[in-house]
Amino acid sequence: MAHMSNPTAEPDFKTAADLAGVLPNSATVENGHLHIAGVDMVQLARAAGTAVYVMDENHIRQQLRDYLQWTHYHWKDVDIIYAGKAFICRAMCRLVHEENCCLDVSSGGELAIALSAGFDPARIYAHGNNKTERELIECIEAGVGHIVVDSFDELDRLSALADMRGINQSVLLRVTPGIEADTHDYIKTGAEDSKFGFGLNQGLAMQAVKRAIELPGIDFEGLHMHIGSQIFALRSYAAAIEVIVGFMAQIKDECGTDVRLLDTGGGLGVAYGVPDEPSSIKDYGKVVIDDIKEQCERRGLTIPRMAVEPGRSIVANAGVTLYTVGTIKEIPGIRTYISVDGGMTDNIRTSLYGAHYEALIANKADQPRSTTATVAGKHCESGDIVVADGPIQPADIGDILCVPATGAYCQSMSSNYNKQVRPGVIWLRDGNWRWVVRRETYDDLLRCDLA
Ligand code: LLP
Repeated sequence: MAHMSNPTAEPDFKTAADLAGVLPNSATVENGHLHIAGVDMVQLARAAGTAVYVMDENHIRQQLRDYLQWTHYHWKDVDIIYAGKAFICRAMCRLVHEENCCLDVSSGGELAIALSAGFDPARIYAHGNNKTERELIECIEAGVGHIVVDSFDELDRLSALADMRGINQSVLLRVTPGIEADTHDYIKTGAEDSKFGFGLNQGLAMQAVKRAIELPGIDFEGLHMHIGSQIFALRSYAAAIEVIVGFMAQIKDECGTDVRLLDTGGGLGVAYGVPDEPSSIKDYGKVVIDDIKEQCERRGLTIPRMAVEPGRSIVANAGVTLYTVGTIKEIPGIRTYISVDGGMTDNIRTSLYGAHYEALIANKADQPRSTTATVAGKHCESGDIVVADGPIQPADIGDILCVPATGAYCQSMSSNYNKQVRPGVIWLRDGNWRWVVRRETYDDLLRCDLA
């Protein structure tokens, strides 16, 4: 399965330099310490405390620029919509704006963060299979540019809410192309049996289009699909595009309407482990944008404006998590547990999806990973594992342990289990660092506790 690389229980004798594929672009090793963006990770951990998420701002910018470059190379009119669920905070919203990209929000909370960062609502796409009435009103009243409608109930609800406010809301309809993406079951979303979107096969999507065209308060702008996440095989996209462009032709035939905007979702996979070789943004741009263009031309359709919605591939490899090694337990003949000052509260992905991560010791970054261990968290669950049986440098108490590729879906899925305070997020740029999200305190834990 593409989602997980093969964990190995063998030492691999790799140093940080060999882990370049999973680390931020700017990672280097100096005096035995891992540096990112010119900042010494060991000194940073000591100054800022651990556990902490650390992200290379220029790496994030570069990913967005690559998407812009390699989609616009094939078609001039493509929106890059950063999927905020991967990682969102005000600094991130501002960065997305500065890089001329749009933003996908999947809840009223994400919308509130974007608006408070001053993000242009016209460039926001609102998602969700069960947006509450309140969330729909928040979107309409904020002037959200595009609402991606997921069900008949929502279509009717949105129509009434927009119409009573005298607004003609731009809408994309989310369709499920019936394609099984080659990824983990939990993050497949394009198959027929899905809580998301309108299925094509039973004619539901066509019914939805006809209803959207007729309903007051709704401006049917186009279609959206998202077939899944952490996808390595670009053929899944090609297959889905064939289906959705076929549907566009059907819409043209039956309704005489052109799809003005086609949003093919996110999902491009990233490297979590050393052996992972995801497709490049360049190849993704070619497959997705060229395919849409060619198929529209073949069917005599006007080529629509396009949009893609990457989340993970923008931020995953920009980030690392730094921990301090607290205890080391060797069980002879079985395994060694290295316990760190975080765990499933800051990275649930290992226990939830069996995701694979690498580990290295930031203060021994030039040493080979000559042993193996399981990196465990500090929480009250045996499943509280960050790295299951992986190669690592021999560890000592107080070492700074670094887990790469944690920039996506770690902070955004973090929790306060065991009343752990959540780590803050530090951004690095040109040898400097700054907090963009501060570490929580015990006061934060008590903030909503009224008794
Ligand atoms: N658009 C929509 C409508 C989505 O649902 C998603 C992700 C994206 C875009 C961005 O997909 P990406 O480029 O990040 O693959 N928590 C899981 C991932 C869930 C993804 C949900 N939707 C994980 O940690 O792997």
